[in-house]
Amino acid sequence: MADRYAVFGNPVAHSKSPQIHAAFADQTGQSLRYTTVEAPEDDFAGAWQRFVQDGGRGANVTVPFKGDAFALSDTLSHRAQRAGAVNTLIMGGNGRTYGDNTDGIGLARDLAHHEVTLKGKRVLMVGAGGAVRGVLAPLLAESPRELMIANRTAAKAVALAEAFADAGQVSGGGLEDIDGAFDVVINGSSASLSGDMPPLPDGLFAAGASAYDMMYGAEPTVFLRWAEARGARTIDGLGMLVEQAAESFFLWRSVRPDTTAVRASLRQALADG
Ligand code: ATR
Repeated sequence: MADRYAVFGNPVAHSKSPQIHAAFADQTGQSLRYTTVEAPEDDFAGAWQRFVQDGGRGANVTVPFKGDAFALSDTLSHRAQRAGAVNTLIMGGNGRTYGDNTDGIGLARDLAHHEVTLKGKRVLMVGAGGAVRGVLAPLLAESPRELMIANRTAAKAVALAEAFADAGQVSGGGLEDIDGAFDVVINGSSASLSGDMPPLPDGLFAAGASAYDMMYGAEPTVFLRWAEARGARTIDGLGMLVEQAAESFFLWRSVRPDTTAVRASLRQALADG
């Protein structure tokens, strides 16, 4: 029987992960079955246990369970520890659960795919929630000249910057503290989900700047429309989704899929509705 994997979330019915992993399996000739599991909000651990008893080998974990997955992992990768969250679970042969986080490397790879470099650049991260915490270490590893975290609630950005001070040049503040022009502006807030635009200042983009939204949709997010109108090059988070999935697939199967064709077909499917 094919090895079993799943994405755990709630809600999870609209997840694109089954489609992505089926395409990776097809491409690499791996025999696996990948489904969705809608875990009860108050019993992620029970759902994972049942899945493992039924032969589950690994999982992706999405909203709202990345913290639960972190808590139940017997062993954590260094990057999961830094992220404070787990998006990839692996069932070890010894019956122990290994937790990793591929979100940050997914973002870093997608930026590289779009030839957006961070080295020596001024980078602004908008937001200071779980999604941002999950990607900070890989971004700082690219050695930006400065990474400012700006958040609606300033104190959260300040605390996050302090927690990552050993990883690079990072500062935190409120949206009103944003100062000067940036080469790369990343929206890691969940504002796009509700169609809101964080109140960002004009003059935010340096010449040739890129704007990246960690969210994506059939239409550009309100942040990307705002950025495009101000001359920035815009990129949404669809590629990040594919890249984090590819890294999870690699952890499970020791084969690295080629993401290019999968990106293209996903984009097409999104456009077709
Ligand atoms: P996630 O897991 O998506 O990061 P989260 O931990 O709840 O979710 O964090 C959401 C982030 O989006 C926070 O930084 C939040 O700002 P606050 O800390 O001030 O709540 C930010 N956010 C959500 N809606 C926003 C909006 N309309 N404008 C600006 N920031 C917003």
